Amino acid sequence: MSRVVVVTGASSGIGRAAAREFAGRGDRLVLAARSAESLAEVRHECRQVGAEVRDVPTDVTEPGALDALAATTVAEFGRIDVWLHTAAVMAYGRFEEVPVEVFEQVVRTDLLGAAGAARVALRHFRSARRGTLILTGSVLGHVTAPYLSGYVTSKWGLHGLSRVLRQESRDLPGVHVCLITPGSVDTPVYQRAANYAGRFGRPPLPIATPERVARAIVACADRPRREISVGRFNLLMRVGFTTLPGLYDRLVGPLMRLCGLTDRPVAPTEGVVFRPHPADEAVRGGWLPDLPGLVRSIGGTAASAGAAARRGLRQRFGSRPTDAATVAPGGSGHERPQLR
Ligand SMILES: NC(=O)c1ccc[n+]([C@@H]2O[C@H](COP(=O)([O-])OP(=O)(O)OC[C@H]3O[C@@H](n4cnc5c(N)ncnc54)[C@H](OP(=O)(O)O)[C@@H]3O)[C@@H](O)[C@H]2O)c1
Repeated sequence: MSRVVVVTGASSGIGRAAAREFAGRGDRLVLAARSAESLAEVRHECRQVGAEVRDVPTDVTEPGALDALAATTVAEFGRIDVWLHTAAVMAYGRFEEVPVEVFEQVVRTDLLGAAGAARVALRHFRSARRGTLILTGSVLGHVTAPYLSGYVTSKWGLHGLSRVLRQESRDLPGVHVCLITPGSVDTPVYQRAANYAGRFGRPPLPIATPERVARAIVACADRPRREISVGRFNLLMRVGFTTLPGLYDRLVGPLMRLCGLTDRPVAPTEGVVFRPHPADEAVRGGWLPDLPGLVRSIGGTAASAGAAARRGLRQRFGSRPTDAATVAPGGSGHERPQLR
């Protein structure tokens, strides 16, 4: 039977990839984020694979907005089976240089927005005695990194909250509270961040695809688990952070400057912390090579090089060259149609 899935943060990155993945499974979707324009695009993408979809522009920091979202979902589809919360923003910069209102809005969005979604979802699940809440944490909810204080504070808070919620739901075997903890993922969140660090941020290697995280999310909705970590270095980072705190703290600053920030200068900006910017919302952030495109361009280059070589040989010898490897049994290369 198709599930009713609410996705908060569905207009970009991991939430958008997850919406498409749920849609491909035949689930019914209610998509939420601030940008109505981007949500309409995602609705279209999901409908193309046959899913029933509603989009409800929602700011998770607005009082009452999440209650209204739940009410619309129940009015449209009768129930909520899964609530996936991915909405978040980031701000780069040394803690004391990030404007107070920016720091507070990051925490309001990433921690209080997630708490608000959890409250609304769990009230619904408690009365239905079933449902799955999937919160999106981060490896930065297990370890810390400089220049992302608001984000790291929020993710540590969210990890603690998710544990409390799991403990409080123990009387309801049909209710699940799950946490997805990605490492670096190729989404636009880095370019969209507020920035007071002077240099654009980027995801440190290794970088996972949002589609991979989306598959982990849907697998979690199918078979709920406490936590799913997506990222090849996540465990290593946690072990280093816990067992060698002195060494970790000495290395993490230089590593962050080297691997987590680009050389591209940026003037102080609020990014999308207070307002959405639909033009840069997409599933991918462009941090990974576009492999299918690369294969196509290598194929194109090889084909043009082959054609140029054939032309050169024709000009030199005055007829089409015979390629012994393409001679069909019982015939000569001249009898075969030439591929161009
Ligand atoms: N990308 C990574 O490397 C990475 C790593 C670990 C964890 N994560 C987590 O994964 C989740 C998704 O991040 P992402 O990388 O996919 O980022 P993203 O591409 O920037 O997407 C963030 C989503 O949150 C929405 N959003 C932001 N503020 C909102 C608000 N006030 N109300 C409603 N929606 C809001 C955005 O839409 P609007 O702007 O239109 O509102 C957008 O749909 C986040 O929780 C992030 O912390 C990401």
